Amino acid sequence: MDVPLRGYAEPALSAPPDWLGGRLEVAPDPARLAEAVVDRLLAVLRASPRRPLGLATGRTMEPVYAALVRRLLALPPLERQPILAGWCSFNLDEYVGLDPADPRSFAAAMRRHLVEPLGLDPAAVHLPDGLAGDPSREAHLYAAAVAAAGGIGLQLLGLGANGHVGFNEPPCGPAASSRCVRLTPATQRQNAAAFGGDPAAVPELAITLGLAEIRRADAILLVVSGPAKAPVLGRLLREPPHADLPASWLQGHPGLRLLVDEAALGARASG
Ligand code: GLP
Repeated sequence: MDVPLRGYAEPALSAPPDWLGGRLEVAPDPARLAEAVVDRLLAVLRASPRRPLGLATGRTMEPVYAALVRRLLALPPLERQPILAGWCSFNLDEYVGLDPADPRSFAAAMRRHLVEPLGLDPAAVHLPDGLAGDPSREAHLYAAAVAAAGGIGLQLLGLGANGHVGFNEPPCGPAASSRCVRLTPATQRQNAAAFGGDPAAVPELAITLGLAEIRRADAILLVVSGPAKAPVLGRLLREPPHADLPASWLQGHPGLRLLVDEAALGARASG
């Protein structure tokens, strides 16, 4: 489904910045945003041979994965089967100290949203091991596994309210590689809902792919949804690349596309 480009409105921006060069798609609502993301995911999943997918977690991705499951399950079996049998994805990040069986882990989220509904081989859906004894070494090994699998073809990204992608918390330079990071209080607050609403219950450490690995992907889909993201999206569209806004280092990526809904753009809702 093609999502028509809608008008821009303050406060987000009055005209798209030069670096965006027509690579912004604006959907009227989160449901149609999810369909637009799935259009692009399916195009990549149908290609053969194909490189690993880079996947993200978070609330932005929940409608995306629901739409992806629905549309994959609606395909004729002869089309669906090679897509599922050839699945290979690498998630961006995982909390340190959470067992993959813990329902609050990103591993559990991936099982709920993709592995179980699609009947995927769990071994084809990779995430960092949050229980690794040495998280820094695990981060290094995980990046090596991504590289050994051929590197990321299409990287799906959400946007943190503080400008993080993955768990690349500000300040962060463009060459930061896969590592163990300390989460900022802002991120602990943002993700507290999955931890009974208590920011102090959110793990302090996480393993994340770095901006270096993310920027090595052929294509990047940055998906931004909802009015709470309007301030950070506005910053991304207005500010030049700098360390306090990690997502801004994606601006120069030739394969970047921004898929957003009107609420995230600060645009009026329209029917
Ligand atoms: C989280 C994750 C990111 C995610 C982002 C946005 O903390 N580490 O991978 O994309 O922040 O999350 P949400 O979609 O819930 O707003």
